[in-house]
Amino acid sequence: MPPEAPKAAPAPKDNRWKLVEAAMRRHGYKSHALIETLHTAQEAYGFLEEPVLRAVAQGLRVPLSKVYGVATFYNFFSLKPQGEHTCVVCTGTACYIKGAGDIMEAIEKKFGIEGGETTPDGKISLLTARCFGSCGLAPAAVFDSEVAGKLTVETTLSRLEKWST
Ligand code: FES
Repeated sequence: MPPEAPKAAPAPKDNRWKLVEAAMRRHGYKSHALIETLHTAQEAYGFLEEPVLRAVAQGLRVPLSKVYGVATFYNFFSLKPQGEHTCVVCTGTACYIKGAGDIMEAIEKKFGIEGGETTPDGKISLLTARCFGSCGLAPAAVFDSEVAGKLTVETTLSRLEKWST
């Protein structure tokens, strides 16, 4: 029988979490899967934020302090960025084929920031993810916590412009 997720895990309910959940399941919800699980989470979310770190801690039955310890120790993990708003553009294969590269380029040009950076006024942080698990919506991005798909350069820029006023 496949291992079951601990009942208490307050799993965020979307496709991104399903990818993280699958990584934990693959390792039988064992604590040694922490680094790999955080990798999967970062690839799916673009960065690691508290609700996800909490859910991973519960899923693998490790103290939250240990999860934070690992997430802050390794510099390939990034915690939630400083911007007032976050835009995470998926640059996974399906999204890339459908124009994610053009979207990133347009954002970089318009707002002067690259992936991993925040605008000087602190309004927008731009990040990338490897796949949200919503490839049918390609190209997709997450604006704060809302997943949006079938984006164009225009629709993406207009959403970001609303944040920067
Ligand atoms: S490649 Fe973008 S959601 Fe899967």
